[in-house]
Amino acid sequence: MVVRDISQRKRFLNSGNVYLPHIAVIEKIIEETPTIRTFHFNIKDDKVREQFTFESGQFAEYSVFGVGEAPFCISSSPTRKDHLEVAFQKVGRVTNAMNRLAVGDEIGFRGPYGNTFPMDYLKGKNLVFVAGGIGMAPLRSLIWNVIDNRAKYEKVTIIYGARSPDLLCFKYDLTDWQKDSSLNTVVTVDRGTPDWKGNVGFVPAVLEKTAPSANNTVAVVCGPPIMIRFTFPVLDKLGFKPEQMITTLEKRMKCGIGKCGRCNIGDVFVCRDGPVFSYAEIKGLASSEY
Ligand code: FES
Repeated sequence: MVVRDISQRKRFLNSGNVYLPHIAVIEKIIEETPTIRTFHFNIKDDKVREQFTFESGQFAEYSVFGVGEAPFCISSSPTRKDHLEVAFQKVGRVTNAMNRLAVGDEIGFRGPYGNTFPMDYLKGKNLVFVAGGIGMAPLRSLIWNVIDNRAKYEKVTIIYGARSPDLLCFKYDLTDWQKDSSLNTVVTVDRGTPDWKGNVGFVPAVLEKTAPSANNTVAVVCGPPIMIRFTFPVLDKLGFKPEQMITTLEKRMKCGIGKCGRCNIGDVFVCRDGPVFSYAEIKGLASSEY
């Protein structure tokens, strides 16, 4: 069985005007790193909030009124419904404006858009999650989804890294996952500090050392392009086939709904055909593009 039909899978676009943002209220802010924040937020309108559904892997457009909007994955799990979460890095006009917002402020929220992680395909499999930096944001939606449905999956390995200890995101999740004996969670940094007691090494090297079996296993990878580029060959060496490697891309999206033409990689539109792809689907594309 392969996942080449990812783009055929059901989308969960909410009905009504897909361009119309809903008003959402920020309920909590977590400073993950000096440049990365997580918002916990809720859609303001009770009826829209109750009807809203999404699946792990999907993204949304977030707007700061009078400034603009930007796409980010929904980083919380659909199994946890009391609020939604988004993590973003301060890199441009919109994210700088988002960085100035406080609890109680309102943002625009439209979506969800894009395809989802192939939940049926993942059932009954061993899962290996490989993430770097803010690349953990889409994976943590899936990881919590898997944890909340633990009996449906076999062995779960999580390998996560950042350049240095202060750049690790979601430290509260990492602590929970390291305590969970049903998970093998390995955290690493490229450069340690005097008080860092964990692993030191690049994510692909730590993956190679951890050496999860490819038998009945799917690897889900997300992180900086350089990490992804070095991770796929390691998975290949470990015996993973392209259909057993999944990634999610977010780069260069703008409209989120296949209209602006900004997110294409060759014939593929990340927003319309993804953002979730198997390596089998993207390996023919220029590796500098993902
Ligand atoms: S983001 Fe506009 S076409 Fe994909």
